Amino acid sequence: MIKKTTICYFSPTGGTEKVAKRLGNEITKSLQEADKYLNEKITVSEIDFTKPQTRKERFEFDDKDLVVVASPVYAGRVPNKIAPDFKASIKGKKTKCVILCCYGNRSYGGALTELGLIMQENGFEIIAAAAVVAQHPFSDLVGAGRPSDSDFRDVSGFAEAVSRKVIKGGNINLPSDTEIPPYYTPLKEDNTPAKFLKAKPVTEEDLCDNCRTCAKACPVGSIDIKDCTKTTGICIKCQACIKVCPNGAKAFADEDFLSHVRMLEMNYTKPNKNSFILPND
Ligand SMILES: Cc1cc2nc3c(=O)[nH]c(=O)nc-3n(C[C@H](O)[C@H](O)[C@H](O)COP(=O)(O)O)c2cc1C
Repeated sequence: MIKKTTICYFSPTGGTEKVAKRLGNEITKSLQEADKYLNEKITVSEIDFTKPQTRKERFEFDDKDLVVVASPVYAGRVPNKIAPDFKASIKGKKTKCVILCCYGNRSYGGALTELGLIMQENGFEIIAAAAVVAQHPFSDLVGAGRPSDSDFRDVSGFAEAVSRKVIKGGNINLPSDTEIPPYYTPLKEDNTPAKFLKAKPVTEEDLCDNCRTCAKACPVGSIDIKDCTKTTGICIKCQACIKVCPNGAKAFADEDFLSHVRMLEMNYTKPNKNSFILPND
């Protein structure tokens, strides 16, 4: 019997968080409506894995837990700076797990496979998997308005099916030698590689009043808390600082980055599909 649902999400710009919460809460609600759980209480808690200090903690689960683990897709994979934290921090013991990847309407590539292998290796049983479109942080035109009302309805329908699987049993078994598709090389408008690995946000100093909102939002703690115009550590291009700045003081000016954004806008505005995966009966 499941006693607790935990929703764990890495979500710098909030799309993954919204979908993960809907999925975790709806699975729990459906479970509570099942005969088997009528007199049982399932609690729901959250782990905001976006915060650097949270990713240093260790979380352990057993067979009375249900864990929803959610990550955005970066370059067709789990963000490479965050995957090691998922590996190190979240351990299960035959714990039922639902994996979710949110992607920005281009492709989720190998991210779902990678997240599944990480969680399996960490002692979890993958009972369901989903890839859901959420607006791309690089452009309001790519994955615009996603997740939409219709996406949320689909997530709720899936959650109901997942709850039946929780009761009935069964899991998706990924062979440990499953190959993960490689990282995607971002392209420019002319189809050549866009090289913006080293790019960092620039700050319009006249607009920045050093309010620290961006520094607090940076999921890798890279913005100088005393002088928010400076990004002193690595940048994972998540766009959190740009989205949260109340004065619109931050942007990316890197030419290759901007060309990649235009390429996405040229080729990836047609709404893409969500994928919902359950083990075979
Ligand atoms: C650095 C970076 C790389 C991304 N790479 C991809 C990708 O390869 N394919 C894709 O469809 N979306 C990609 N996206 C879009 C995100 O996966 C998607 O919009 C996600 O929902 C953002 O999550 P968040 O709102 O929780 O931060 C990328 C976003 C960022 C910031």
